[in-house]
Amino acid sequence: MTEASIQAGAAPTSRYFLVDADATDQFGRELAAAQPVTAVVHLQGELGAGKSTLARAWLRALGVTGPIRSPTYTLVERYPLDGGEALHLDLYRIGDAGELEFLGLDEADVALWLIEWPERGSGALPRPDLTIELAVEGDGRTLQLTPGTPAGRDWIGRVDVAVQHGEGGSA
Ligand SMILES: Nc1ncnc2c1ncn2[C@@H]1O[C@H](COP(=O)(O)OP(=O)(O)O)[C@@H](O)[C@H]1O
Ligand SMILES: [Mg+2]
Repeated sequence: MTEASIQAGAAPTSRYFLVDADATDQFGRELAAAQPVTAVVHLQGELGAGKSTLARAWLRALGVTGPIRSPTYTLVERYPLDGGEALHLDLYRIGDAGELEFLGLDEADVALWLIEWPERGSGALPRPDLTIELAVEGDGRTLQLTPGTPAGRDWIGRVDVAVQHGEGGSA
């Protein structure tokens, strides 16, 4: 594929089925293993779709050993990592996107943004390399990956290969 194959409205997406919460954890680890050095990720889906489950497994895979708290009330939880900070945001309860300014997030030091409910902070967030959409389907979840940048497209390619070659409960 060439750069030109990414066009507005025609982004190549990948879809997976995650049979249970363990499969979501496994997928979080695959995303972490394949991620670029810096990445902005938007996590979309209704309450209970599995966004936080995915984020938690992902942060663990990056080496977070202490508690991983939900950012539901704090809006952001921060994790120092070797390659720079990881931020986990949940904007479900944000009043308006202007509140993000008061969090004092310095983009320069952030290696990874995992943002739940990004639609509530639109205009005040960095552009996503990857948008992940989760949805309930039967007893499991569907997960769709859409790239927002060339780095995101390459990332999806790596994940596709890893999932096809691993056993994981996805694909
Ligand atoms: N693939 C899956 N199949 C079934 N249940 C799942 C799956 N992934 C996560 N869950 C469960 O869904 C519930 C809600 O997940 P959570 O991550 O808190 O959702 P969200 O952050 O999107 O509101 C949790 O009980 C979790 O164990
Ligand atoms: Mg959540």
